Amino acid sequence: MPGSIVITGNEIMVEGWALSVWDAQDQMRFLINGSDFAHVEWPLESHDLLVPFGDIPGAAASRFRCRHTGQAQRDLFVDGFARLSITGRFGEHRLSYRTAWYVADPARELPAPSPAQIQRVIGTPDLQSFLFGGATIVKRFEQLLLDRFDRTLASFQSILDWGCGAGRLTRYLTQLSPKVTGIDIDADNIASCARTLPGARFLRVDLMPPTELPAGSFDLVVGLSVLTHLDEQVQDAWLAELQRLTCPQAILLLSVQGLAQMSLYRAPPELHLQAHREGILDVGSNSQLEEVIEDRSYYRNVMHSHDYILTRWARWFDVLDIIEGTAGNQDVVVLRRRAD
Ligand SMILES: C[S@@+](CC[C@H](N)C(=O)[O-])C[C@H]1O[C@@H](n2cnc3c(N)ncnc32)[C@H](O)[C@@H]1O
Repeated sequence: MPGSIVITGNEIMVEGWALSVWDAQDQMRFLINGSDFAHVEWPLESHDLLVPFGDIPGAAASRFRCRHTGQAQRDLFVDGFARLSITGRFGEHRLSYRTAWYVADPARELPAPSPAQIQRVIGTPDLQSFLFGGATIVKRFEQLLLDRFDRTLASFQSILDWGCGAGRLTRYLTQLSPKVTGIDIDADNIASCARTLPGARFLRVDLMPPTELPAGSFDLVVGLSVLTHLDEQVQDAWLAELQRLTCPQAILLLSVQGLAQMSLYRAPPELHLQAHREGILDVGSNSQLEEVIEDRSYYRNVMHSHDYILTRWARWFDVLDIIEGTAGNQDVVVLRRRAD
């Protein structure tokens, strides 16, 4: 987990925490674009982790600080992004993209949203987390589509970023595809995205479908942490709307809370068991959208079991896979729209 990333000219410095339950501490490697960082300080004291993660060996010394200098800035951001990986002694492998973190070239960054706009979508006003979180999810999705479907993002005719919020994903999707649409119920974030992210079109939508978008408009949908906020009745209605909006064989990547996120937040295990037993668990209302939507009961915190997704969501889509911890810290559900 990166804590801070500082880029000065052609140098990148990354600080953060690396707490592995698999790899021996003295064999861990810190890589940038697949090669070892030139300077690594590790392991450094991390008493801040003792309270949340004291039960994991190594929690008292799991901070790192790495520095790397490229020949030029463009060496760091080969295709517009730098890839940071922490691995065991053998380095990266075919699936390392799922745990890598990606940092976008600051020279190509578009204007940033306000701290309040960021806070509404990621729960903290921190711009850096917003940026590397968005870049990471888009690049992991790009690799996932290549890995599973042999498809680049650019090969899709029309991409929907459902619940685009402040454009955390949209701002990087537009670097990889010219055909992106962002929709959200948050009018303020939609207006700000439309002003600052010229490579996509944006539309505010009502709390309940249908939207004004034509049927069969999209062949790829990403929906990051949207279904984690809707109760069952609302999400059923939106899954049906996503079915209407997609063409046959369209791919959807929708995220849900899973064990990776629960472990990171140290959620009580009982909660996971309850979600497992009940299938869908509405933990209560979420106040983050209070300033932008009137209905205080709409936006919630919701968990799903994999069993529930495999059965319930199959009403609208083929559920191809649920991959843990790949959508940032959330799980990604890979769906395909059936032929009519
Ligand atoms: C946790 S935020 C994530 C935003 C964005 N996907 C990201 O990853 O940064 C959830 C977003 O979903 C939006 N949202 C909630 N219900 C929605 C709905 N029914 N249709 C479209 N957007 C919705 C919220 O306004 C918010 O922007």
